[in-house]
Amino acid sequence: MNGIERWNTPPDLPKHMVIGGEHVDAISRRRMDTIDPATGSAFADVPQADAADVDRAVESAKAALAGPWRAISPAERGRILTRTAALLRRDKDRLARIETLDCGKPLRESLGDLETAAGYFEYYAGMADKLQGDTIPLGPDFVSFTLHEPVGVTAHIIPWNFPLVTTARGIAPALAAGNTAVVKPAEQTPLTALILADLLDEAGLPPGVYNVVTGYGPEVGAPLTAHPDVAHVTFTGSVATGKTVMKAAADHVASVTLELGGKSPVVVLADADLDAAVEGTLKAIYMNSGQVCSAGSRLVVERQLHAAMLERLVTRTNKLAPGHGLDDAPLGPLVSAEQFARVSGFVAGAHRRGLAIATGGGPAAVKGLEGGFFFAPTILDKVAVDDPLSQEEIFGPVLAVQVVDSPEEAIAVGNATPYGLVAGIYTADITRALRFARDIDAGQVFINQYFAGGVATPFGGVKNSGFGREKGLAALSSYFRIKCVTARI
Ligand code: NAI
Ligand code: MG
Repeated sequence: MNGIERWNTPPDLPKHMVIGGEHVDAISRRRMDTIDPATGSAFADVPQADAADVDRAVESAKAALAGPWRAISPAERGRILTRTAALLRRDKDRLARIETLDCGKPLRESLGDLETAAGYFEYYAGMADKLQGDTIPLGPDFVSFTLHEPVGVTAHIIPWNFPLVTTARGIAPALAAGNTAVVKPAEQTPLTALILADLLDEAGLPPGVYNVVTGYGPEVGAPLTAHPDVAHVTFTGSVATGKTVMKAAADHVASVTLELGGKSPVVVLADADLDAAVEGTLKAIYMNSGQVCSAGSRLVVERQLHAAMLERLVTRTNKLAPGHGLDDAPLGPLVSAEQFARVSGFVAGAHRRGLAIATGGGPAAVKGLEGGFFFAPTILDKVAVDDPLSQEEIFGPVLAVQVVDSPEEAIAVGNATPYGLVAGIYTADITRALRFARDIDAGQVFINQYFAGGVATPFGGVKNSGFGREKGLAALSSYFRIKCVTARI
């Protein structure tokens, strides 16, 4: 526990998992700590579950499917989700503090996450009673129609960078379509998914519809994704774990949505609005200290603007003093010692290969927070296309600058990674922007505003960034199956 009052732990943190509407310990009674990444100290602990707990959770999700949940009308499902959105907003200050303590991000970002999470519940609430099928014209002697049915028990494997947002992003459409769910939060950040269980309960969700099992990937995630009664797995995380999840789901023919991160370019053409491009690039790489699947981690800039962009970015970056998220510091810590080591390893490689380090390049010292996982915001200049810093997801506040000589080269460089999640472009020429949108490998393109969009805009990847779409109406298709009924009359 840290003794400093302004970073104090809020009271009444969740102590138990939620299975079948009950607050329970792991069957093994084991527990695990959750750490404040700004201090490096544990501030709470939760059950450390395993396959036996997963079995209980899937069983209760399966029972709830056939139970009262089935009898609740789609319109009432929508009302439950609407009430959940209101409850998230009611409790937003407390939840945002807890999210910040758990994952380190600045408080303003956690408050933004609370609004986004509420937005998902609101958005999909409106869809609960509008998932309707078709009638198929086969001529006068037949009646043929489709039914939209829930797929069944859905599993949600959640990462630590947006704990509540990612949970809401999958749960809201899953529940809107009438499914039940078992959620496995990341081991680093279990708290807000647990609290969400209480809010859903208060909103009127029947017991067993939303279950949370806390623990490690191999101990909880693996048996959950391999469970024969799980019909769909929604996964957000690393490429390596995503492949493991897909293989586990294949063994029992469950469908999967994989959201696996990226190495997204922010392209700045010579005619761009420099101020907007600088603001957009800073936000693209430093939000949540770069631990964002859609982070803009490469600046692909036309040579004419290279020097001006770099100078402004370095000046602004040098003002971003890392600190505790609860103090709403410009930049928070990385989520864990492990993530700190991973980012440090990438940057050590940059030092070894003699890359030009325009600013940063190592850990950041923060007075009073010597145990925290702080990394200095870092800009690497003129990084070659085939350098690991241009190719691999770092998931830290590390920007790789790539200089190009034409819009065509910007597209080629933009596409020259194994990923394809997001691409941003800054230009005054809408035709160029739309040609870029046509030719870039990405699930979403941001023109003249990085992170443009919201809960209503479909989100997902191509290439190693995964497949399937979350957010927007597109997400719903993962959560219902179509049954076609045809009668000879
Ligand atoms: P990870 O992919 O291992 O973890 C994500 C989730 O998967 C966690 O809940 C974890 O417990 C679970 N998991 C781990 N092994 C599993 C298994 N065998 N079966 C089922 N679930 C399992 O990612 P990790 O190790 O936390 O981070 C490594 C890298 O992954 C990061 O540096 C970053 O590059 C990337 N990442 C990408 C994210 C994104 O938003 N797309 C989010 C988190 C990490
Ligand atoms: Mg934590």
